[in-house]
Amino acid sequence: MRYDFDTPIDRRGTASIKWDYGKRFTGLEELLPLWVADMDFPACTEVIEALKRRVEHGVFGYTLEPESYFQAVIDWMRHRHGWEIRRGWMVAAPGVIPSLNLALLAYSQPGDGVIIQPPVYYPFKESIVNNERRVVENPLRLDGNRYTMDLDQLKDSIDERTRLLILCSPHNPVARVWSRQELEKLADICLRQKIIILSDEIHHDLIMPGHRHTPTASLSGEAAAITVTLTSATKTFNLAGLGCSLVIASDRDLRKRFRATQKRICTEVANALSAVATEAAYRHGESWLEQVLDYVRGNYEFLVAFLGERLPGGRVIPLEGTYLVWIDLRALGLSDEELKKRILGRAKVWLDDGPMFGSGGEGFQRINLACPRSTLEQALEATVRALG
Ligand SMILES: Cc1ncc(COP(=O)(O)O)c(C=O)c1O
Repeated sequence: MRYDFDTPIDRRGTASIKWDYGKRFTGLEELLPLWVADMDFPACTEVIEALKRRVEHGVFGYTLEPESYFQAVIDWMRHRHGWEIRRGWMVAAPGVIPSLNLALLAYSQPGDGVIIQPPVYYPFKESIVNNERRVVENPLRLDGNRYTMDLDQLKDSIDERTRLLILCSPHNPVARVWSRQELEKLADICLRQKIIILSDEIHHDLIMPGHRHTPTASLSGEAAAITVTLTSATKTFNLAGLGCSLVIASDRDLRKRFRATQKRICTEVANALSAVATEAAYRHGESWLEQVLDYVRGNYEFLVAFLGERLPGGRVIPLEGTYLVWIDLRALGLSDEELKKRILGRAKVWLDDGPMFGSGGEGFQRINLACPRSTLEQALEATVRALG
């Protein structure tokens, strides 16, 4: 079946964070939002049908994820990523960020160091600060148009109280899909320094042509023994409002410690709809996903051409993965405050400001490409005019 991603769907009035809460988050109304990472596209038909069947049953008592759900995840990981996982390695959880917070509690003590690689998805830092751990920054390097990990600085930043590294793979917001070689070097350092890797792979399926996602835990048996993978179908299939994720750890001790922490706050009970949606997506959604990836790729090419012509001072960082494009506006010579004043205040376009993502984000903006091309065009037109 061919999906239509061109026709805008009005999401206002659905309690959408993106479309209904501009006033609450920014104080402004009537914004065109291309910020938070969800898609303005409808889910695939099989997901909607599976949800309808479940809703029509009408009884929504306490639920656990069925075994068929775990099998669908196992099959997807093998088929899509060549990663063999076992049922016993998986712990179901409501969301990746809740699991990240639990993992910090499970594997570290207050005051312990946790490494992040900014600019990076801002809840990483928040989770470290909120749990009274210490943020250790290993900033990414930008050489020309390409971000890389600074592994020498990483080695220098580790001390005897550094316990964890939160890896964003693929990386939000710089859109890198880390190569096997890069990940191997990183895992090697973590192995030698006894650092546990919390590998957030929520964007694992959103990969552009020419790139391949490597699950960190698939690198080697040694790497798997220090890796806790946080994953979900919610980004891939636009199911974030249903909340559903998995923690995967082949190491028994890491799993045990995570489970014990999870038990303390009782998040084991499942949402009655989310596993239904995830299972249907993994079993039947591949063609939908391929079409979304094509469409996002088209939006990216549109944006590159548009900005190339209309905003020569803007530099687009190549999109290897995710549907979030990272734009370097530093050459315009405007402060972050001025950029915000013009883009949000004047153009009424709601993007994610670079500084939100921490060190190295100054002068950048993140744009969500998972929207109809006409929405993107409208946003770019207004933004370029406000910056001109
Ligand atoms: C890297 C990354 N991790 C996690 C999340 C959110 O995960 P969840 O909604 O399952 O808490 C996002 C959403 O944008 C993300 O980009």
